[in-house]
Amino acid sequence: MGYTPRSKQQLIKDFITFPIRAVHIFEDDKWGLTSLASERFDYVKHEVQGYCLDVGCGRYNRFINKYLEGHGIGIDVFKYEGLTEENLVEDIKKFPFPNETFDTVTFIANINHIPPSMRDNELSEAYRCLKYGGNVLVTIANPVAGIAVHKVVRFHDIVFGTNYDMDHARGMAEGEEYYLKDKEIVSRLAKAGFINIRRKYFWTQWFLNHMFIGYK
Ligand SMILES: C[S@@+](CC[C@H](N)C(=O)[O-])C[C@H]1O[C@@H](n2cnc3c(N)ncnc32)[C@H](O)[C@@H]1O
Repeated sequence: MGYTPRSKQQLIKDFITFPIRAVHIFEDDKWGLTSLASERFDYVKHEVQGYCLDVGCGRYNRFINKYLEGHGIGIDVFKYEGLTEENLVEDIKKFPFPNETFDTVTFIANINHIPPSMRDNELSEAYRCLKYGGNVLVTIANPVAGIAVHKVVRFHDIVFGTNYDMDHARGMAEGEEYYLKDKEIVSRLAKAGFINIRRKYFWTQWFLNHMFIGYK
């Protein structure tokens, strides 16, 4: 199914039911409510300026395929189900694209999973692959919420036999973390060359998740 923007009523319903969604609705929408994954994709989609690179795209390359209707490329270091050879970039030190290919580069729930020694490098690669005027979008949960949601998802998988914890499926590499401080993200974005960096909160997640938007 394609992407349908959330109505005002849906946004209000999602806001009120956030605690239920945070403990039970992670990837697929349920009971007329939006999952946490759909919701972060929804917020990010609104800031995408055109042809998009999604770094750390995860299973089924969902953001590009569903939310951008294929208008972009998703890459990941792990071959999750639903990914092709095109999506898999095992040596991610250099993104396999020419300079100035994309209008937007996204890091969705992903920057904390990039080991610290590689963060500057991948942000620089994002900068290189962006056109001038293009934007970078980096989502990150509040530290406490990031850890709590991860633990809830893991608990849910164990108790209900589900398979939502993508990080467990892959095995966390050394240096991956469950959250990053805003200060670190802003300073790394600036170091990579991004300007006019601002923060946008996800209000329907009670401001416990947000994204940074920067420009080349
Ligand atoms: C929590 S998942 C998020 C997946 C997807 N973006 C989403 O929002 O559902 C984190 C992703 O980061 C990817 N990842 C791990 N190490 C990475 C690296 N060095 N560079 C880019 N992505 C990486 C993982 O394979 C995984 O797909």
